[in-house]
Amino acid sequence: MRTPIIVGNWKLNKTSREAVAFVKSLWSLVADVTDIEIVVAPTFTGLSVVAQALASGNIRLAAQDVFWENSGAFTGEVSPGMLKDVGCDYVIIGHSERRQYFGETDENVNRKVKAAHAHSLKPIICTGESLEEREAGKTGAVVKDQVLNGIAGLSADQIASTVIAYEPVWAIGTGHNATPDQAQEVHALIRLLVSEIYSTDVAAQVRIQYGGSVKPDNTAELIAQPDVDGALVGTASWEAESFAQIVKAVCNVFFIN
Ligand code: PGA
Repeated sequence: MRTPIIVGNWKLNKTSREAVAFVKSLWSLVADVTDIEIVVAPTFTGLSVVAQALASGNIRLAAQDVFWENSGAFTGEVSPGMLKDVGCDYVIIGHSERRQYFGETDENVNRKVKAAHAHSLKPIICTGESLEEREAGKTGAVVKDQVLNGIAGLSADQIASTVIAYEPVWAIGTGHNATPDQAQEVHALIRLLVSEIYSTDVAAQVRIQYGGSVKPDNTAELIAQPDVDGALVGTASWEAESFAQIVKAVCNVFFIN
């Protein structure tokens, strides 16, 4: 069975002080959760203090981006080795906001994914179509390109420890989540793509998260889909209470039902 993974993507929010206060209150709400991976993704400036605050708990750390070189004259960039050094286990790569506002390409996503693996950071590769692409019937083709380009050249071991997030752009920050059927359809496609390149065994190990307006009240129906292995949560992860409710909803579906 795949361990469910719930990631809170803080985006451009929380000072270091706010970040530490947040994880302390989150931890008090989810301290008893053991069978789910709970991950928070602060800004780069918050990583170190959050890592210290999380030291002995059950919450893990992700960065929101990474560069593919490990050192050198690349002003403004942060390397995979630096992220590992401050205590990150995961790194989000290719979020649609980075693709949309910062010119992230599939080629760059692939470089970052490989660099992350080279430093034992697990990448969370974001994919997803725009509304225009969905309405034009291109969802499958768009996601297929993003997945195949993003994972190109990975070994079977590397892909097995890679997380793929399906985040329809039209659902991010809009309050309009994909329906469980829409999510399941694309998640199943992603798993099929991985099985065609590697094997069904390898594909069965890859965790595929849904993201896009995940909230406490829609988590259960999304996570109940057979190929939905977790959630990448933006807005609803910025409050400890609502993020904890999402974690609890996942626990209920996986371990009580
Ligand atoms: P949202 O963001 O939950 O606010 O829709 C999700 C994301 O961008 O990862």
